[in-house]
Amino acid sequence: MDTFDPAASFGPDVAARYDDQPRGDEDAAVAFLAGLAQGRPALEFAIGTGRIALPLAAREIPVDGIELSPHMVARLRAKPGGERLDITLGDMSVATTGRRYGLVYLVFNTIFNLLTADDQVRCFENAARHLTADGYFVIETAVPHAWIAPGIADYVRAEQVSTTAVAFDVARYDPVTQLLAENHVRLTATGITMGPIACRLITPGEMDLMARIAGLRLVARFATWERTAFDTHSRAHISVYGCAPTPPQSFPDRDATLPPPPAHAR
Ligand SMILES: C[S@@+](CC[C@H](N)C(=O)[O-])C[C@H]1O[C@@H](n2cnc3c(N)ncnc32)[C@H](O)[C@@H]1O
Repeated sequence: MDTFDPAASFGPDVAARYDDQPRGDEDAAVAFLAGLAQGRPALEFAIGTGRIALPLAAREIPVDGIELSPHMVARLRAKPGGERLDITLGDMSVATTGRRYGLVYLVFNTIFNLLTADDQVRCFENAARHLTADGYFVIETAVPHAWIAPGIADYVRAEQVSTTAVAFDVARYDPVTQLLAENHVRLTATGITMGPIACRLITPGEMDLMARIAGLRLVARFATWERTAFDTHSRAHISVYGCAPTPPQSFPDRDATLPPPPAHAR
């Protein structure tokens, strides 16, 4: 994976298949995000094919996006309402829309697609740059040990076993770089296809530190979009960061008004 280019992971073939099997969390994610946006404009980092952005925009929330893959954006544009979204092609760790938002969000483990700690910190800093003073940055990922158990260096998992095709996921983890190199390999009578992807796995605690470097603070953390408590057994987290120097005493209910803008210096 030495020459791996993250942009290549979401080329035309992946983009064409991306929406075939919905992840299933769309309604809950959109409800959660709409509750935080409260009608204010939102920005999705790595907007992809608009899986979340389009239903969020359908709730009267203006949504902009930043996205690396023109192939994913082409799929978004082809969907109803997709032509109305303002999308900046570029790297979410540095690209800017030149605007500020009440909500910036980055979901589906995609912070892991940035392959160095510096780029991941830059991504938090870029989120902070796009937030209004009372805005929220929401990030959703798995916890690393849900993907690779402590002490395990590599694995092969069967993803499909049938009489005409087998597919397996082959991965190797380097605890020094925190990089997980993965390839989804599919064998059929007509040939072999490969789907390489690399991720840099970071824990919720590392994200909190990155957020602090960017001038943000953790406001709330949940295990699911339905706001299940995050605990020892959680395999994923949804973390909400704000610009305030100290977290508010309580996180707003779904329908509550947002707390007043925090006094802060940026
Ligand atoms: C798993 S998909 C998620 C797409 C969308 N957010 C969703 O939830 O369906 C990851 C997306 O991140 C994009 N991506 C990866 N690295 C990126 C980067 N550095 N800047 C912007 N987009 C990036 C990919 O092109 C791809 O569209």
